[in-house]
Amino acid sequence: MSYRSIKLIKRPALEITNDIFEIVTQDIPTPAEGEVLVKLSHLSLDPAMRGWMSSDENSYIPPVNLGDTMRASGIGEVVESNNEKFPVGTRVMGLMGLTEYAISKGDGLNIIPKELPAEAILSVIALPGITSYHGVFEVLKPEAGQTLIVTAAAGSVGSLVGQMAKNLGLTVIGVAGSDEKCQWLTKELGFDHALNYKDADFVEQLTNATPKGIDLFFENTGGVAQAPIFERMNAHGRIAVCGLIAEYQKEEAAPGPSWIGIIKKRLNIQGFTMPDHFHRIPEYGQALGAMLAKGELKYRAHVIEGIESSTDGINLLFEGKNTGKLIVKL
Ligand SMILES: NC(=O)c1ccc[n+]([C@@H]2O[C@H](COP(=O)([O-])OP(=O)(O)OC[C@H]3O[C@@H](n4cnc5c(N)ncnc54)[C@H](OP(=O)(O)O)[C@@H]3O)[C@@H](O)[C@H]2O)c1
Repeated sequence: MSYRSIKLIKRPALEITNDIFEIVTQDIPTPAEGEVLVKLSHLSLDPAMRGWMSSDENSYIPPVNLGDTMRASGIGEVVESNNEKFPVGTRVMGLMGLTEYAISKGDGLNIIPKELPAEAILSVIALPGITSYHGVFEVLKPEAGQTLIVTAAAGSVGSLVGQMAKNLGLTVIGVAGSDEKCQWLTKELGFDHALNYKDADFVEQLTNATPKGIDLFFENTGGVAQAPIFERMNAHGRIAVCGLIAEYQKEEAAPGPSWIGIIKKRLNIQGFTMPDHFHRIPEYGQALGAMLAKGELKYRAHVIEGIESSTDGINLLFEGKNTGKLIVKL
């Protein structure tokens, strides 16, 4: 019996092109002592994967070595086990790569309930959820009555951030790249305002939507929205720098806001990446599961099919063509 996996064979020049990957067919391996064999059912495609493809050794996680299976998180079921912590039939989630089967010693594998749909897990409990939860509760620390703005607001992280803030009694503004996405944010998710950063009068719309300024900024994109949002920040505001997707495929990233503005407004700006906080997954997962069960978090998943769809599919994220969490169903 054979399975397919996707190897990274070249670094991307700027954009992700098909020739940087090779789809390899191999025999399904047998797990050694202490190992399990996982059959993947769903893979998660995330903007961070662009960074993992680069050769940058100074980032928060080492680059994927050329020739290795491309790093990605996913969900699967243990189908053979030599590890008593993960008996056959256990459903697991972890960084198993773009692959149909994976061997694991169990390090970094999280056991997940079988009853939840895979889309709910990958959209809410997995990376988007824990990132939103950490950024909102540990970095921004919101208080009812404050005004929060989030970029890539209709995406997997941004949509959860905005809903968490609404549930805490904040005024929430989302920034997204299409009118359809903006409508989803206000009509379905209850955001107070949603602004399309591609509109010619974006800055005017932003000013009108934030009469009391902005206290909290959850930054997912960089790009054209960043400077006008920075200008609207209130004194002692907080900014969580979660992602800068507008910069990932550029030769050189834009410099960002002036330090003069940071001191004049006494801002607290904090970058964060989730691998530093993976030990908190069980705790965050519990909290997110409870929010989901209470109907406090809605999500939408954008599902593509077959492992081979992931090499082109990942670009949907950079083109803004994904509507919700981008998932590959195997
Ligand atoms: N720090 C961490 O540990 C961590 C963890 C997870 C994710 N992140 C970051 O969080 C951000 C969102 O990730 P996600 O998984 O939730 O993805 P996502 O929002 O579901 O998808 C990415 C979205 O980014 C927007 N986008 C793409 N290019 C853009 C540009 N040039 N300018 C403005 N917006 C652009 C697009 O939406 P529009 O149609 O609205 O343009 C696209 O749909 C990313 O920057 C990611 O790297 C960080």
